[in-house]
Amino acid sequence: ARIEKGGYKHFMAKEIAEQPVVIADALKHYTTPEGGLRLPEGVDFKGVDRITMVACGTASYACHVAKYWFEQIAGLPAEIDIASEFRYREPPLSGQSWAVFVSQSGETADTLAALRYARDKVARIVSVVNVPTSSIARESDLSLPILAGVEVGVASTKAFTCQLTVLALMAVKAGLDRGRLTAEQAAAHLGSLRNLPGLMNHALGLSGVIAEVAEELAEAQDVLFLGRGAMYPLALEGALKLKEISYIHAEGYASGELKHGPIALIDARVPVIVLAPRDGLFDKTVSNMQEVMARHGKVLLISDAAGVEEAGAGVWKTLVLPEVEAAFAPILYAVPAQLLAYHTAIAKGTDVDQPRNLAKSVTVE
Ligand code: G6P
Repeated sequence: ARIEKGGYKHFMAKEIAEQPVVIADALKHYTTPEGGLRLPEGVDFKGVDRITMVACGTASYACHVAKYWFEQIAGLPAEIDIASEFRYREPPLSGQSWAVFVSQSGETADTLAALRYARDKVARIVSVVNVPTSSIARESDLSLPILAGVEVGVASTKAFTCQLTVLALMAVKAGLDRGRLTAEQAAAHLGSLRNLPGLMNHALGLSGVIAEVAEELAEAQDVLFLGRGAMYPLALEGALKLKEISYIHAEGYASGELKHGPIALIDARVPVIVLAPRDGLFDKTVSNMQEVMARHGKVLLISDAAGVEEAGAGVWKTLVLPEVEAAFAPILYAVPAQLLAYHTAIAKGTDVDQPRNLAKSVTVE
């Protein structure tokens, strides 16, 4: 069937807006009506000594977020790599490990080649894909569809958050299998995941405010995104989204790295987008943010109400999101990051769904 924009101006806008629904679908698919996990049979982490996640582009940032989850929720060592490096590096792989390949299309040449490199070197080849009939899905021992539905916009949005959702469910399963989570703790995580669609609807309601911020962001030459913990890879993704469709130079940094280079760029013309839910690392991020403000950087603080109340004084702009379990905040905070990129591209008049020089699926090296 032909995919339509369904009243939206761009596929990207439609796909951003669809996220609460597709994430709810994925959660429904992979959990029981009673709220327990229902992942495919082979998703059993007993005896697995580590996982290596490999992907390109936005999917690689989903892996980067998931590394925090596998380590913190399941105590499972997790490595990440971009496929074009992994495939030629000849990385040693443990026979008790899993290699996990994440790809929206399931056809990215470097990711497929990385999968073929890992074959026979690991206990199991697992893929997390949006296209269940794709090469990567077919060549895996086990493939988990993310159920995002067809994604048309070149800049990935709903596939990213659905990848995160499936990886989060896998991390909870790993926590149970490895005895790191009690049934109650696992249920609490699953409950937080089930809250996400509602929270994302709230975040989508910020679109109008974000469009106003974007009018000013569109004037910038360079933009920095900062985050700590699992919000660091979201900073990388936020910067990628912005550069992909608005052509503004953007970089994501771990907040703690600011002083090791990027702070040299800060002046009154450089917007700095701080992704900082009020979690255990909030105070540290705030002190990094203050270093930016002391150098007249324009800070856009994206936090929850408590965070904005505590640290919002003197910043350029704030965006207030609902409270969310800290671990899964990257799924919720993806929404304003995507909307910022989208509205900035609109303000600049670029081709949102077909940005120059980019392809939806890169099937050549
Ligand atoms: C291209 C797309 C990106 C995507 C990346 C990986 O660069 O423009 O949106 O993240 O490929 O694609 P995959 O299909 O493997 O997730």
